[in-house]
Amino acid sequence: MTCTGMNMKSSSTVFREKIQFGKVERCINMGRRPVRFILSTLFIATIFSIFLLYSPNPLYLISKQGLEQQASSPMQGHKSHQKRESCDLSKGHWVRETRGSFFYTNSSCATIPESKNCFKQGRMDMDFLNWRWKPDQCDLPPFNAKTFLQIVQGKTMAFIGDSVGRNHMESLLCLLSQEEIPEDIYKDSEDRFRTWYFRRSNFTLKVLWTKFLIAGEERMINGTGSSIFDLQLDKVDDGWAKHLPGVDYAIVSAGHWFFRVMYLHEGDNVVGCVYCNEPNVTNRNVDFALQMSFRATFNYINGCKNCSGLVTLLRTFTPAHFENGAWNTRGYCNRTGPFNETEIDLTSSEWQMRNAQVKEIKRARKFGGNQGKRFEVVDVTRAMLMRPDGHPGEHWGNKWKSGYNDCVHWCMPGPVDTWSEIFMAVLRKEAGLSSL
Ligand SMILES: *[C@@H]1O[C@H](CO)[C@@H](O)[C@H](O)[C@H]1NC(C)=O
Ligand SMILES: *[C@@H]1O[C@H](CO)[C@@H](O)[C@H](O)[C@H]1NC(C)=O
Ligand SMILES: *[C@@H]1O[C@H](CO)[C@@H](O)[C@H](O)[C@H]1NC(C)=O
Ligand SMILES: *[C@@H]1O[C@H](CO)[C@@H](O)[C@H](O)[C@H]1NC(C)=O
Ligand SMILES: *[C@@H]1O[C@H](CO)[C@@H](O)[C@H](O)[C@H]1NC(C)=O
Ligand SMILES: *[C@@H]1O[C@H](CO)[C@@H](O)[C@H](O)[C@H]1NC(C)=O
Ligand SMILES: *[C@@H]1O[C@H](CO)[C@@H](O)[C@H](O)[C@H]1NC(C)=O
Repeated sequence: MTCTGMNMKSSSTVFREKIQFGKVERCINMGRRPVRFILSTLFIATIFSIFLLYSPNPLYLISKQGLEQQASSPMQGHKSHQKRESCDLSKGHWVRETRGSFFYTNSSCATIPESKNCFKQGRMDMDFLNWRWKPDQCDLPPFNAKTFLQIVQGKTMAFIGDSVGRNHMESLLCLLSQEEIPEDIYKDSEDRFRTWYFRRSNFTLKVLWTKFLIAGEERMINGTGSSIFDLQLDKVDDGWAKHLPGVDYAIVSAGHWFFRVMYLHEGDNVVGCVYCNEPNVTNRNVDFALQMSFRATFNYINGCKNCSGLVTLLRTFTPAHFENGAWNTRGYCNRTGPFNETEIDLTSSEWQMRNAQVKEIKRARKFGGNQGKRFEVVDVTRAMLMRPDGHPGEHWGNKWKSGYNDCVHWCMPGPVDTWSEIFMAVLRKEAGLSSL
């Protein structure tokens, strides 16, 4: 695969990630022509705050199964019999945790990819590990691998998305491997599809790679990628879709690939384009394209006959943190601590992306409920907006592209591990609901 847009003369802002296992080069784009990124304020008005409802029931289920950790659960203290307590896990701030809030190191987890093994790659500051996410209304229980593996026993989980989705899976893999060492049972030739198996827990963990979730091809000009993409809004990427039957939990994410020139198709018709400025084609924003891709994805899931019992989780968009430049104009991210709540920008394009995703999961729930499909949100956008210090920056083993910084992916260990803590809280709730 060629990674286009790497020509320094090009105005493209594609970021090239040379990932751990060699062969694959992936392209991630961050903030193409950011000046021209005109945002619709429409989305800002729609912030759904109460979609991470805690059920009072998961504790019941969990204690029945003799799971650990109830004591630290925020749900117990507030248990009320009639009314469902809710805690919005997405709203909060980072608090100091002097004993450190990491669960593994690069010696206790053998599967940290080189490009995210920041300490090995020369990162010296460690203070960014001493922060814990504190939702305003409750406490987030620390990750517990034993509990997690008990919840997912006998199940198959698939991370569907780009390299940031894979980053999340890799973090979860490290968290779980502190309890049980998984077997690496499948890897395709480009290492885009990979399967791990936890034998004792009979738990299968997959990563299914896709750029856009929907079908999308780069236009080739004389055998070279053009950085222009054609997206099919009415067709999901079969690369992941064909693996969906048999999956119990699908963690879906996408976003960074959408910041580029794209023609949007429905059937044989061009129905819009992003960053193209052609008089005869409707101009669309990036978040529109993203929203349509999630709509197609969730429609597909809702219509999937062979996916009974599937729980779909949206992991919301996470921001890049380039400062004083873009990926290819010497932008960097070398902060050593979090932003506070007043330092983040909820009018940013990242927040628009997240809102577009959340809109679609709400829509999917409405249509999916009667087919037994369930939809949840692992809403990490706001928390991660506050973590400019969590990226590899220059410490990503950038031997092919020295001078470039990775301000898109996340160091391991690091704040990316919090995604799995929120994920686990949502899974507990989900497990409780399913027992009703
Ligand atoms: C772990 O990180 C240290 C630096 O903190 C580095 O010297 C060492 O090589 C790394 N080990 C592995 C196995 O990645
Ligand atoms: C693993 O889980 C699957 C799906 O629940 C089940 O069919 C299978 O029998 C289990 N295997 C073992 C060894 O428990
Ligand atoms: C493609 O290659 C041919 C022959 O080298 C050249 O004439 C043509 O201009 C190229 N087209 C584009 C779009 O670069
Ligand atoms: C729009 O116009 C351009 C040239 O003006 C043409 O190349 C393109 O095919 C047209 N697109 C559509 C969808 O008609
Ligand atoms: C559903 O799954 C069964 C068995 O795996 C397979 O034979 C069948 O073709 C699938 N149906 C669809 C619509 O994918
Ligand atoms: C971050 O990098 C910039 C540019 O190289 C430099 O000026 C600044 O001092 C660095 N900050 C820290 C905290 O290292
Ligand atoms: C947030 O950080 C800014 C810049 O460091 C500081 O001026 C401000 O007082 C902080 N606000 C709060 C609520 O801590």
